Amino acid sequence: AANLEEGLQYLTTQKAPYVLKADGLAAGKGVLIIDSLEEAQNELKDMLSGKFGSASAKVVIETFLKGIEVSMFVLTDGEHYVVLPEAKDYKRIGDGDTGLNTGGMGTIAPNPYYTKAVAEECMEKIFLPTIDAMNKEGRTFKGCLYFGLMLTPNGPKVIEYNCRFGDPETQVVLPLLESDLLTIMKATTNGTLAETEVKFSEKSACCVIMASKGYPVSYDKGFEMNIPEEIDGNVYVAGASLKDGKLLTNGGRVLGVTAVEDNLKDAVKASYALVDKISFDNAFYRNDIGAKALAVLKD
Ligand code: GLY
Repeated sequence: AANLEEGLQYLTTQKAPYVLKADGLAAGKGVLIIDSLEEAQNELKDMLSGKFGSASAKVVIETFLKGIEVSMFVLTDGEHYVVLPEAKDYKRIGDGDTGLNTGGMGTIAPNPYYTKAVAEECMEKIFLPTIDAMNKEGRTFKGCLYFGLMLTPNGPKVIEYNCRFGDPETQVVLPLLESDLLTIMKATTNGTLAETEVKFSEKSACCVIMASKGYPVSYDKGFEMNIPEEIDGNVYVAGASLKDGKLLTNGGRVLGVTAVEDNLKDAVKASYALVDKISFDNAFYRNDIGAKALAVLKD
């Protein structure tokens, strides 16, 4: 909706929860999931009058889908493709998938909900048709396609496409790659992906995002970060600045900590052990990255 009256009217024809999405780019924060009609109507008003700047000049009112999130990266040279290990992104700010949507508060890979049967269905109904459709439209895509999927009772659904790697999914997928990334990326551009070896480890990875308290709404910056020089894992610093030789927080999602272990349980444990070694004022992170997925593995 770009027209407030039409949007307000349309909302009355929908069932809760209401999903409002800024049509433009809003750094992963432009989606609101709201339980009450009145609140949804007020939010629509705020969004159309610039809550997310020009990104919300147009708002998409979406159907709410309940399910398990899966993030997939598919590398393609337009003809051949390679599916990278499946990841699960934890988009809500709070434990138990509560609170506002964020750019991602943590990830695991592989994603135990993505079974062989789901993989086959995604390949047949989503990945290949997407690549084929772009070829047919004369827009052959070469590079990394990102599929944001939701596994619903009615099968896997596409929530979003991006033509890039995702964050923080990349922080768990690429550590599992055993082949040379640059060679693979070159192969996607020159049509030789089929002849290029792309090997992944059988291990599991978990990434926990350390954010600034208040993210994704408002948060303070400029806190000194303490990260040990020697750390047995990967620390990806994102929202930071360097001042007088000191690393200071300078963003909402400050850093991601990834551990790779033989299995998911150990990866989750190791990534939280790494988080314990890092500190800065106002640090905030979810305590349940990978937790429910581990329960699934046990079943
Ligand atoms: N983690 C979501 C994205 O990269 O779009």
